[in-house]
Amino acid sequence: MDEWLVESLKKRDIEQVVMLGAGHDSRVLRFSECFEGVKVFELDHPATQKRKKELLISNFKKIPENVNYVSIDLSYQKPLDELVKAGFDSNKKNIFILEGLIYYLPEEEVRKIFEFVKQNSCVDSEIIFDYFSKDLVDGTGDINGSFAIRSSVEKSGEPFLFGIEESKLECFIESFNMTLSKRSDHQVLKNKYFQDRKSKVFSFAEICLAKCK
Ligand SMILES: C[S@@+](CC[C@H](N)C(=O)[O-])C[C@H]1O[C@@H](n2cnc3c(N)ncnc32)[C@H](O)[C@@H]1O
Repeated sequence: MDEWLVESLKKRDIEQVVMLGAGHDSRVLRFSECFEGVKVFELDHPATQKRKKELLISNFKKIPENVNYVSIDLSYQKPLDELVKAGFDSNKKNIFILEGLIYYLPEEEVRKIFEFVKQNSCVDSEIIFDYFSKDLVDGTGDINGSFAIRSSVEKSGEPFLFGIEESKLECFIESFNMTLSKRSDHQVLKNKYFQDRKSKVFSFAEICLAKCK
């Protein structure tokens, strides 16, 4: 995801980056040069953002100036209302990042987010996201490690709710008038980044980049 984001930002025509469920995402700090001149909107739950700001102050003494922190509960608030209040312009070329988010939301909420991205971004805007396969989420697939992780998130009170069937990924993306531009499954990620490391790549992780038509 980092590589895709940096590659796009280096073209210097992206005007806004929106991170939904940004959590403690540190990309604005890690790739600060690439973000020069780009308006950033980080959307998250108020409690998460409060803690993030405290951590930024205690570790870096300041909060990045080009980031607009938009407090929102996506389950009942509309992103557009809150984003516009924070200065978001619906006619610009954007990148939306949804990392570690969509599998925790009901399908209806996920569809609303993709629809929102399409409706409020100009051509060639991008959405970068990770997702899990449907059979992992509903428990019908026998994927290595999936039982343990599913029961652990259920116990924590944040069960997986949304997955996409592998064979229907393109169809899902096309239904929002977007094109699937890049995708990397766990095998690609493992071969590229984890050859010499002990870290485990879940055998159901997949990341994608789709572009608005
Ligand atoms: C697993 S974390 C991922 C954080 C970050 N994107 C990352 O990859 O490290 C999920 C994030 O989504 C946020 N989130 C989950 N449900 C949300 C909701 N209904 N409204 C707003 N934020 C939500 C959480 O507060 C959390 O920061």
